[in-house]
Amino acid sequence: MKNIYSNIFKVNNSIMARAIKYLKKNQAIGVPTETVYGIAGNAYSNSSIQKIYNLKNRPKINPLIVHFYNFKHIQNDVEIDKRFLKLYKKFCPGPITFVLKKKLNSKISKLATANLSTVAIRFPKHRIIRQILKKLKFPLAIPSGNKSQSVSPVTASDVAEEFKHKLKFIIDGGRSNIGIESTVVDLTGKIKILRPGLISREQINGVLKINMSNFKNPRVIKSPGSLKKHYSPGIPMVLNKKRKGEKHAFIIFGKKYKNNKNVFNLSKNANLKEAAKNLYRILRKIKKLKYKKIYVVKIKNKGVGMAINDRLKHAANK
Ligand code: TXA
Ligand code: MG
Repeated sequence: MKNIYSNIFKVNNSIMARAIKYLKKNQAIGVPTETVYGIAGNAYSNSSIQKIYNLKNRPKINPLIVHFYNFKHIQNDVEIDKRFLKLYKKFCPGPITFVLKKKLNSKISKLATANLSTVAIRFPKHRIIRQILKKLKFPLAIPSGNKSQSVSPVTASDVAEEFKHKLKFIIDGGRSNIGIESTVVDLTGKIKILRPGLISREQINGVLKINMSNFKNPRVIKSPGSLKKHYSPGIPMVLNKKRKGEKHAFIIFGKKYKNNKNVFNLSKNANLKEAAKNLYRILRKIKKLKYKKIYVVKIKNKGVGMAINDRLKHAANK
């Protein structure tokens, strides 16, 4: 049997050169970022983007995030906004994505932006993806490296397990440090958080000296990926549970629960950042152990807790 991990490569000069070569040939490859692993392809190439949608089995109406090395590279593609510059200065490179107006003559593939007049851009921090972006003359569309609707990957082997031999080349950059996807901020009108993440509403308010209200699941489909079932381990999940069921996996947070069989602790120190980092890893582990149901304790809805609850809510959707 073919080893499903034979497509994972530790980075060195020759692996780097191969990654660049594949991307220039409009292939799709697995890459690490500080949030989650992704599938990267040339954002200017329809054929590259098509490969990504096919691999992920992603609906065409759900646009991709376009990743750049730094803001000097975005001039031809997006309309720059004052709020963007302030947030960029504070948080980039880092786990935040900006939805901006796309320039009419932008070369970004219309497939990547699902034909919208806007585009989501991000400047990832992970050393390896930055090294790659620096060497390219085009930005990279990088959605999370999972099949549509399922849990995002946080290691190279998670990506390999999602796509098996269909993905030939995945770079191993260690476990993703943040563990959940970037905060998505819409700057095309009144500022709005479309997807909460590690960078919180409070932090954004602080930088812009504004008072944006709490993140709510948007009623209009602004981030098409944000409404339906998503981030799902494929097992029924029940949220806000106080006690564990007999045979169910029980996801907990903090010290007060005794650790025993069927119990998975997001953070023994009750640290929300640590919990975010462990969330997808634990969901994958529970799936591998073939549990039939997952109970989850209530997680406080503050700061990164909002991002965790957002993912849990979607994951629990039937
Ligand atoms: O942390 C991340 O953002 C990761 C890593 C790999 O960079 N990427 C990621 O991409 O999470 P993806 O494709 O799994 O999620 C992109 C989200 C989706 O919810 C999508 O609907 C939204 O961004 N999005 C993309 N373009 C948009 C646009 N023009 N307007 C509104 N939402 C957009
Ligand atoms: Mg995703």
